[in-house]
Amino acid sequence: MATVSVSGSDRLRDLQAFDDSKAGVKGLVDAGVTSVPYFFCHPLDPLPVAAPSEDDDIIPVIDLKKADIDRGHVVAEVRAAAELVGFFQVVNHGVPGELMEEMLAAVRRFNEEPLEAKVPYYTRDNARKVRFNSNFDLFRSPAANWRDTLFMEMAPEEPSPEEIPAACRDVAVEYTAAVRGLGERLFELLSEALGLPARHLGSDAGCMDGLSMAAHYYPACPEPEATMGTSQHSDPSFLTVLLQDASGGLQALLEPPRRWVDVPPVAGALVVNVGDLLQLVSNDRFRSVEHRVVATSGAGPRVSVACFFRLDYSSTRSYGPIVADGGARAAVYRSTTAAEFLAHYNGKGLDGRSALDHFRLAAASNSSTPERAADGRTYVAI
Ligand code: OGA
Ligand code: NI
Repeated sequence: MATVSVSGSDRLRDLQAFDDSKAGVKGLVDAGVTSVPYFFCHPLDPLPVAAPSEDDDIIPVIDLKKADIDRGHVVAEVRAAAELVGFFQVVNHGVPGELMEEMLAAVRRFNEEPLEAKVPYYTRDNARKVRFNSNFDLFRSPAANWRDTLFMEMAPEEPSPEEIPAACRDVAVEYTAAVRGLGERLFELLSEALGLPARHLGSDAGCMDGLSMAAHYYPACPEPEATMGTSQHSDPSFLTVLLQDASGGLQALLEPPRRWVDVPPVAGALVVNVGDLLQLVSNDRFRSVEHRVVATSGAGPRVSVACFFRLDYSSTRSYGPIVADGGARAAVYRSTTAAEFLAHYNGKGLDGRSALDHFRLAAASNSSTPERAADGRTYVAI
């Protein structure tokens, strides 16, 4: 396995050849590779991984049914999770278990179809609502990830049926509708957790206006310690609802002490995590926590489906910290627009740096007692 001896132009040529195959990581595995090609090799991460028993219940599992009986308690649970951990799991969330299983099966079915069936969807053209590719940031990131992904932009306008691969056409639409229903409830709870009216984040601020689905397929890897399923990143969404199968491998970066903690598969549960934009509008109260997926050599592929509640890319509204108390808590971010945020995120790739740093006010990050910025626009409530 070569690592450092590959010059820039050779690397580009090799990436291009891999991309031109349109067969993704699954294609490499099907071709029988016994080691990981060098451009998938990641430097070793020195951070420790917590033993499963150590951090057993650090990622809370919240029973949403309890909100009917004691709403204040569930709001407090959601607030604590969003502030301290950035991740939680939900049960009794209203998305039928059967639909979750069907969604995972459909993603697996699509990826395991013959190459000819998948090739028409393989593209890096972001103008297309449905895009299949391996590593959206293949040509920009320092190292490629051991996964293939089917992206679908489901809201504000879903793709026309024929744009969606037949293998997951009906189920993707049905699953999205169910997750949007859950999203409404989650944004109500999160709004209340911030002391805002229940409808604020979802209905008024537009945190649910856009929805992207990323259906990931992580083939079993012959050399899992050399690469990553998904490298360390935080999500560019307001909120992410993740469906994962029983394989495991998702880890969140928590501190102190700084360590990787498993987000274990819980039967019937959905994983929820705060994204960068919710950290921004909550003015750092809620945490967008970095996470990753380790590659595994397990018996089969791992499948997951991430639904990102995101900006409506065509919206021109600006998003900044919501300062409900008239400025007693100074804004630590400047406002941004959908176009600016997206351009910044896409230009960056999964490089391990937070997209939020770009929007953080210098005065706020350099001072332990942040001052009110001179620029009044940073206080715009969304
Ligand atoms: C993502 C992500 C985790 C997973 O798509 O942003 O973090 O389990 N996915 O696939
Ligand atoms: Ni993520």
